[in-house]
Amino acid sequence: MKVQLAIAIVTIALVGCNNSNSKTNIASNPYAQQVDSLLSLMTVEEKVGQLNLYAGSWEFTGPVPEDVNNQKKLENIKSGRVGAMLNVITADGTREAQKLAVENSRLGIPLIFGYDVIHGYKTMMPIPLGQAASWDAEVARSGAQVAAKEASASGINWTFAPMMDIARDARWGRMMESPGEDPYLASYMSKAWIKGFQGNDMSDAATIAACAKHFAAYGFVEAGRDYNTVDISLQTLYNVVLPPFKAASEAGVASFMNSFNEIGGVPANGSELLQRQLLKGAWEYQNGFVVSDWGSIGEMITHGYAADTLEAGYKALTAGSDMDMEAHIYENSIEELVSLGKISEDILNDAVRRILTVKFQLGLFDDPYLYCDVEREKSDLLTEENLEIARAAARKSIVLLKNENNLLPLSKEGQSIAVIGSLAADKDVPLGSWRAQANEGSAVSLLEGIEGAVSDKTNVSYSKGYTLTKGRRQFIYELDIVNGDQSGFKRAIDLAKKVDVVVLAMGEDCWQTGEGRSQTDIGLKGDQMDLMYELLKVNKNIVVTLMNGRSLAIPELDESIPAILEVWHLGSEAGNAIADVLFGDYNPSGKLPVSFPRHVGQCPIYYNHKNGGRPTTNPHDAGMVFWSHYTDSPNSPLYPFGYGLSYTTFEYSDLSLSSMEMSSNGEITASIKVKNTGKIAGQETVQLYIRDYVGSVTRPVKELKGFEKITLKSGEEKEIQFTINNETLSYYRADLSFGSEPGQFAVMIGGNSQKILTTDFRLVD
Ligand code: BGC
Repeated sequence: MKVQLAIAIVTIALVGCNNSNSKTNIASNPYAQQVDSLLSLMTVEEKVGQLNLYAGSWEFTGPVPEDVNNQKKLENIKSGRVGAMLNVITADGTREAQKLAVENSRLGIPLIFGYDVIHGYKTMMPIPLGQAASWDAEVARSGAQVAAKEASASGINWTFAPMMDIARDARWGRMMESPGEDPYLASYMSKAWIKGFQGNDMSDAATIAACAKHFAAYGFVEAGRDYNTVDISLQTLYNVVLPPFKAASEAGVASFMNSFNEIGGVPANGSELLQRQLLKGAWEYQNGFVVSDWGSIGEMITHGYAADTLEAGYKALTAGSDMDMEAHIYENSIEELVSLGKISEDILNDAVRRILTVKFQLGLFDDPYLYCDVEREKSDLLTEENLEIARAAARKSIVLLKNENNLLPLSKEGQSIAVIGSLAADKDVPLGSWRAQANEGSAVSLLEGIEGAVSDKTNVSYSKGYTLTKGRRQFIYELDIVNGDQSGFKRAIDLAKKVDVVVLAMGEDCWQTGEGRSQTDIGLKGDQMDLMYELLKVNKNIVVTLMNGRSLAIPELDESIPAILEVWHLGSEAGNAIADVLFGDYNPSGKLPVSFPRHVGQCPIYYNHKNGGRPTTNPHDAGMVFWSHYTDSPNSPLYPFGYGLSYTTFEYSDLSLSSMEMSSNGEITASIKVKNTGKIAGQETVQLYIRDYVGSVTRPVKELKGFEKITLKSGEEKEIQFTINNETLSYYRADLSFGSEPGQFAVMIGGNSQKILTTDFRLVD
């Protein structure tokens, strides 16, 4: 094999010297010559081969698969008709699969191995939505770095992450994978995830290629129903959906994945606007490729956008989808389309060039087995160091929603604690959905975390109370929620009667969120609420820890429970991290990356909405209905975007601007004083929002434009400054050009998107 590969590479190098007609941007792609040389050796069949991404659903280290389809896949890998594989794992498994390609195919081109390494591989970090609540790039970067280190030790060199879909509708189960509702925060977190996965050099054996997904607007599925239609304006697309993707492209992400949805009648796979005009055109994305989502090129036929395989292949490839994940459309259409002259070889070459470039970047041409290291696989997974990073990330992701009369933090000594709820003892749910190779039931449960933290374990007692689910709990199957089983109530109530404080775990099973898990009800399911009301009758000192993967509608909790901690699905170290916060070893610092509605009927709900023509009622018309509102609920969320408490308190004062006027080539400074008015040190995330009062298209009532995390000792005060310049005020205007427009702007600074100080200034020409 090595001989064959070596010959290929030498030949490539020689041919490369003579090739001066490359259309690839050589300056920005150090591998351009090698890629073009290799390309010049390839037949059309081999080129099309690079576009095919196969799932490996059989054991590569075992016997030859009996299934006919899999046998065909195997033959295709050997003959160079496959460019990449997904769901093939382990150092041995990927080595065997790689061998098939490099030892048997004519040119010995190595495969890329992709996998959904979303928030960890073996060691689970908090779900991405939880990580976003940290508003901390280091949480994202270090978590992704650990994930890359572990996955790459197990043969994987490409992850289908980060997901950067803006999510405004909690009915959509994939909110858990997203960085939330805001494009600024989503861009910030996504860049850090990419940095963590890819490092500074993708050919380093401990880094992997990242994938910006889902391109684009998947989070805007109508009614929050997964795989549904998307129909949004170009302004929303440009100003809200695309900024994280543009940031990802600028950060050098190795690939993009397009999405299942259509936008304005065109399935994303077939979108020339997204792929050719924007990504590969205006954004000048040259050195990476676009992969389809699972089977989505084929779904263009179901959407009613292509009549058959040939048309689907034609539309997707010409629009800029480079790689076909498991639809098998390209392998059954592109050669024919090229031979018929319907698709030019230039278009095919562009796609192949991009894929080969990433293979060079990954170092696969130097060593196709770079990522198949059995020794690293034994030593680098689930290490103490990785778990420590997971614990730090988890506690930074926790958001304190309510803390009446300072019920929290609890005391480690002398306080009797009843831990109640099946989620409290659960060692699996905290691992979250999209958990790659996490060992089932391997998380530290809340109960274990609490028992490990207190000085005397006998002060802690546990009762299950409710049962949340029954039957199989798996990524691919529907989940059965238990309703009407109150058999565990009595024991829990008896326990609650006897203790100083109850820690009640409530929330969602992790398989209530993720792909295909849309819900019409975003409250707490099953018998949890009934139990909560029963417990309140006997003990008012209840701390609820909420484990969930979406924003929930929980007004009843807010009304009756004195202390609420949002703990998401926090990963391997969940219980320890929650205990760190419960007992005050870590002062909570998380802020919500999504608005929590009062009722599902408010969805989609987001802070950066438009003003509309009738935002409030006229005082003279009090009682009349002719304004934009609900007759049975306030418009406002229960907890707004950016909200989160601390065990200390912060006071904001003295908002000022360096000038009340700014020219488009100038800048002004906004300053604010923040004081820690409580008794202990704490961290605060100071948030800057801007409003553009009048635009060529209407502008949101506020938009996050910056934030700073600060630590203040008790009594300490700091002045925080933000620079505002033309970039801060620019947006995609009525004609979709990017720039600012003169006029009046509001500057708002505060600790969440609602509680803010405001002042105005003018942008002049
Ligand atoms: C999901 C993607 C994922 C892919 C591969 C699809 O169903 O939408 O996010 O990366 O499967 O597992």
